[in-house]
Amino acid sequence: MSAGPAENRSEGANASLHKPVLLASFLAAVGPKPGQRWIDGTFGRGGHTSALLEAGAEVLGLDRDEAAVQVAEEVRQRWPERFSWMRRNFAEMEISARDAGWGGGVDGVLLDLGVSSPQLDVAERGFSFRLEGPLDMRMDRREGVTAAQLVNELPETDLANMIYEYGDERQSRRIARALVARRERRPFVSTLDFAEVVAGAVGRPRIGGVHPATKVFQALRIAVNHEREALLAVLPQALKILKPQGVLAVISFHSGEDRQVKSFMRQHANEWLDTPEHPQSFRNPKHYFSDVRRYLPTNEEMAENPRARSARLRVAWRNEVPYAN
Ligand SMILES: C[S@@+](CC[C@H](N)C(=O)[O-])C[C@H]1O[C@@H](n2cnc3c(N)ncnc32)[C@H](O)[C@@H]1O
Repeated sequence: MSAGPAENRSEGANASLHKPVLLASFLAAVGPKPGQRWIDGTFGRGGHTSALLEAGAEVLGLDRDEAAVQVAEEVRQRWPERFSWMRRNFAEMEISARDAGWGGGVDGVLLDLGVSSPQLDVAERGFSFRLEGPLDMRMDRREGVTAAQLVNELPETDLANMIYEYGDERQSRRIARALVARRERRPFVSTLDFAEVVAGAVGRPRIGGVHPATKVFQALRIAVNHEREALLAVLPQALKILKPQGVLAVISFHSGEDRQVKSFMRQHANEWLDTPEHPQSFRNPKHYFSDVRRYLPTNEEMAENPRARSARLRVAWRNEVPYAN
């Protein structure tokens, strides 16, 4: 996942300001109905989940972050019959569906990638370059390696590659060099200190209010949380558990993850394959999606909700072909 630059998604501490991204487009595209079973793999603050519940669907919410626990409890109290919840990585989607008694398949899967404001706004989580906190960034603090451990221990080339690949940051080598030079004197511990060193290495001023460390924070968050790996793991599972005519909807904020989603959907949407190995066109045995579409935020939504600026929604409809491993 990359949510785009993480701070694009911050909406302040006030929960009432929370606006689910591309909600209207999502609802118009998928048309949720009473009786449908949906998995929201990125429950967050339950914005999309609540809309699905209001439309009469049943929802299983997943989120690996402790920040989602309390909101999920509130949603469960409101919709005890139709909402259930697990604190899990969405990379465990297939087993989660089975554990929920939904082994027979689901009508829809939603992924709204990235992080949300409860994560960004709490300084001690270490996601924000605006707030002083430990350089942590783990969505699930029960496991894994912190951002500080990564920047203090990764070899310089790996650091540069991570910053380039997950942050789309062209000055990755220069930044990695500066990080290594600094950590040799004093290891990184806190967000603001780290942000300052990155800003010094980038050497460019804030452009349009965007902090020079934005992309590096994003890259680090993606690496710490193995976001690309989780996305790679969940897509085939989502496809596998979708019923015929079911829908997979993914909202992404970063070109790298959007490419991953697009390529996965296309790979299963082409009815015919025409490759160098098979010069004569033949039917794609894994043609599982009958239709694939992309939705972008409207100008109105971008004006209303700056977090939506870099968002893209991709929706794929499952066809009737039985799934084969
Ligand atoms: C952008 S927010 C979702 C917001 C939500 N759609 C709403 O309307 O409130 C993304 C959420 O996904 C969660 N998340 C990200 N990667 C995850 C993963 N691999 N497994 C489970 N949850 C994940 C984050 O913890 C965060 O709460």
